[in-house]
Amino acid sequence: MSKRHQTFVCQNCGAATGRWQGKCEACGEWNTMVEESPDAGVGARPLGGRAPRKGRAFALEPMTGEAHEAPRLPSGLAELDRVTGGGFVRGSVLLLGGDPGIGKSTLLIQAAAALANGGHRAVYISGEEAVAQVRMRAERLGLGGAKVELAAETAVEDIVATLSEGKTPRLVVIDSIQTMWTDLVDSAPGTVTQVRGSAQALIRFAKRSGAAIILVGHVTKDGQIAGPRVVEHMVDAVLSFEGEGSHQFRILRAVKNRFGPTDEIGVFEMTGLGLREVANPSELFLSERDLGSPGTAVFAGIEGTRPLLVEIQALVAPTSLGTPRRAVVGWDQNRLAMVLAVLEAHCGVKLGGHDVYLNVAGGLRIVEPAADLAAAAALVSSLANAPLPPDAVYFGEISLSGAVRPVAQAAARLKEAQKLGFGRAVVPDGSREGDGGLAVNAVENLVSLVSEIAARADKGSRRPRLVEREDG
Ligand code: TYD
Ligand code: MG
Repeated sequence: MSKRHQTFVCQNCGAATGRWQGKCEACGEWNTMVEESPDAGVGARPLGGRAPRKGRAFALEPMTGEAHEAPRLPSGLAELDRVTGGGFVRGSVLLLGGDPGIGKSTLLIQAAAALANGGHRAVYISGEEAVAQVRMRAERLGLGGAKVELAAETAVEDIVATLSEGKTPRLVVIDSIQTMWTDLVDSAPGTVTQVRGSAQALIRFAKRSGAAIILVGHVTKDGQIAGPRVVEHMVDAVLSFEGEGSHQFRILRAVKNRFGPTDEIGVFEMTGLGLREVANPSELFLSERDLGSPGTAVFAGIEGTRPLLVEIQALVAPTSLGTPRRAVVGWDQNRLAMVLAVLEAHCGVKLGGHDVYLNVAGGLRIVEPAADLAAAAALVSSLANAPLPPDAVYFGEISLSGAVRPVAQAAARLKEAQKLGFGRAVVPDGSREGDGGLAVNAVENLVSLVSEIAARADKGSRRPRLVEREDG
């Protein structure tokens, strides 16, 4: 009699071991090992010990065939299409991740309805809500008349069998992959093996039939798509739907995309009637500006191919703690530390006794180094208690030497600023092109920006507590 082997699978990375461990040796996470059935991996033998089937020969194809463009189907939501790279690719599988309640189901029911209204077959399968609930939501969104086919199902084999009948759907939404389960795997729904097995079966169906499938994935508190990161590797594209709970803005971002760019964002606004596309996000992100208060600077950024103006807010205040606090929302903590170090080392701005808070307005997350100059301007403005000119935008990368370095697409940034009524731009030296109508103030290094802001502070007869002179 052979002894039944136990397998413990890490719910974070999918590594398997023969015995339970408190810490996964592969990824270092604690308390993630869960017992799952042996050989329950993808493509495992069906339970019940049926003999493995014999292989079937298939035709190999030459690489020199006609290389046809991936046929895409635009969803009808321009912001969604921008992020996917122009629509859903036939036979592709897309994973949409995001916090609970962020609006994933809303977005997808809207996309499915738009496709159905365009005369395509769209199927929405919910593993979390009853059909009546999905229908009620659609009605509330004014989409009650759309011919989306609904089901509340969680058994992957049943779903695949149903979808294989009749005309192949162009879009299938699976909400969510964590609720699905397949017969091939013996683990509980939601475990890494189940999720992986279910995703595999659905991906196989997509490739075979040509239907585009969107899998909804939950996100854990540290921002990863819950359970298996492995699913991210299996699918063609991973989109993440982000936003602050208290803001109505929602940002759709491509984390991975086999058929398009990964730097485009789609911007939506959550309204009482569902998600509204925001075609000009700059206007939205600047709509609640607090003009004339110190510590805010407008950054002229680029998200993908689109310029985007956004307000950067800083608060610099004397600290009551031994170690001053540095807190950042929407920007990189390390870049803040770098900008602060450059301000201290090259500009004589002493921040060792101050708490520093930096926030990107509207819940946006900026990754561009071009935001350095705007962040520095906001920080210095807050410290000096001197408001920056309300009609100025800032962009430029700061190097460790304190020099302000040119950034890409300066002309597009300036054009957007001009379009939105800004009168001047503080930019790196050498990005003067395309400045029609906009007063361009080229700064070579951070020192000149700091002294400019300091001069404003002095003029406003406020306490000149900005630069502590060594020579005094
Ligand atoms: P939902 O799509 O269910 O989120 P997810 O699927 O990502 O968990 O969105 C739920 C939230 O969206 C809920 O908090 C209410 C809000 N909402 C609106 O504000 N307006 C609407 O028209 C709808 C449908 C939802
Ligand atoms: Mg949902």
